[in-house]
Amino acid sequence: MQYVKLGSTGLDVSRICLGCMTYGVPDRGTHEWTLDEEASRPLIRQALEAGITFFDTANVYSDGTSEEIVGKALADFARRDDIVLATKVHGRMRPGPNGGGLSRKAIMTEIEHSLRRLGTDYVDLYQIHRFDPHTPVEETMEALHDLVKAGKVRYIGASSMYAWQFSKMQYTAERHGWTRFVSMQNHYNLVYREEEREMLPLCADQGVGVLPWSPLARGRLTRDWDTATGRSATDTFGSTLYQEGDRAVVEAVTRIAGERGVPRAQVALAWLLHQDTVTAPIVGAARPGHLEDAVAAVELTLSEKETEELERPYAPHPIAGH
Ligand SMILES: NC(=O)c1ccc[n+]([C@@H]2O[C@H](COP(=O)([O-])OP(=O)(O)OC[C@H]3O[C@@H](n4cnc5c(N)ncnc54)[C@H](OP(=O)(O)O)[C@@H]3O)[C@@H](O)[C@H]2O)c1
Repeated sequence: MQYVKLGSTGLDVSRICLGCMTYGVPDRGTHEWTLDEEASRPLIRQALEAGITFFDTANVYSDGTSEEIVGKALADFARRDDIVLATKVHGRMRPGPNGGGLSRKAIMTEIEHSLRRLGTDYVDLYQIHRFDPHTPVEETMEALHDLVKAGKVRYIGASSMYAWQFSKMQYTAERHGWTRFVSMQNHYNLVYREEEREMLPLCADQGVGVLPWSPLARGRLTRDWDTATGRSATDTFGSTLYQEGDRAVVEAVTRIAGERGVPRAQVALAWLLHQDTVTAPIVGAARPGHLEDAVAAVELTLSEKETEELERPYAPHPIAGH
């Protein structure tokens, strides 16, 4: 495994981050395709053994049970100081007033619930899962800063939003001397490259680390376009993100993987790992082979010609995943 600094911080992270949305009680929350605790633990252990030290979850994943499963497995299989543990806040956790969003009340409440479920007294990277148009940016940024000062959070990050929203939050923090975001977790892969227009140049300019989510387009980049899996059949959010024209990109991945004699997932991840702006893709691993491919991709170097072939068929998309 390779390790890099997260953006302009001094924090070392593995070049592969394990996406823990895959792990959670299937009948809790909205992801019925998740692996339960028993099936999840060997994969978390395998990731650690492969040198992965960076783990991403969220309060909303499987109604908090992802945090519970991940926290317990990491306590059993790793030393807390060796791990970079990331979670998120914003999604709705309860019906009714103050059940979600980025108000001071919601943030202060949700960090306590996340810490309890994760079984730890601090989170390394606390990310806002989306922009909250109903809360003043000052309120959110000061609350996040207070968590850092209280020692409950080491760094703060953000996830999918417009570049102007991210920029506004950053300059608000700067203006008040509060903590700035060090990372952007956004939707970026070979079939969704809209982030190259505004968000990625902004992150490069500002020294913000980039952590792409769904780096394999939720599996679409790993198999023939018309093939369905147990997950893809029930992944309702995933089914809104891609379009028929992406088939040509999947075919290019298939061709290059065939010529190389490696699985398609390795080629798609290697392309992402080659992007200057990308710190660590957040990979979803539901089987041991998924992790093996992710780790192997770190060492796979694509030629300029292969990169050009992978990029050529891309067709622009409407904004998806905010
Ligand atoms: N911030 C956000 O809003 C946001 C949104 C989405 C995700 N995330 C984060 O990003 C993480 C990853 O998301 P994701 O699971 O959608 O990512 P992904 O890596 O694009 O998709 C994972 C799926 O791809 C397939 N796959 C993975 N490796 C494979 C391999 N080597 N060979 C064949 N198929 C392979 C599997 O599909 P099958 O199971 O169908 O075989 C697997 O479930 C999440 O766990 C979460 O931490 C964040």
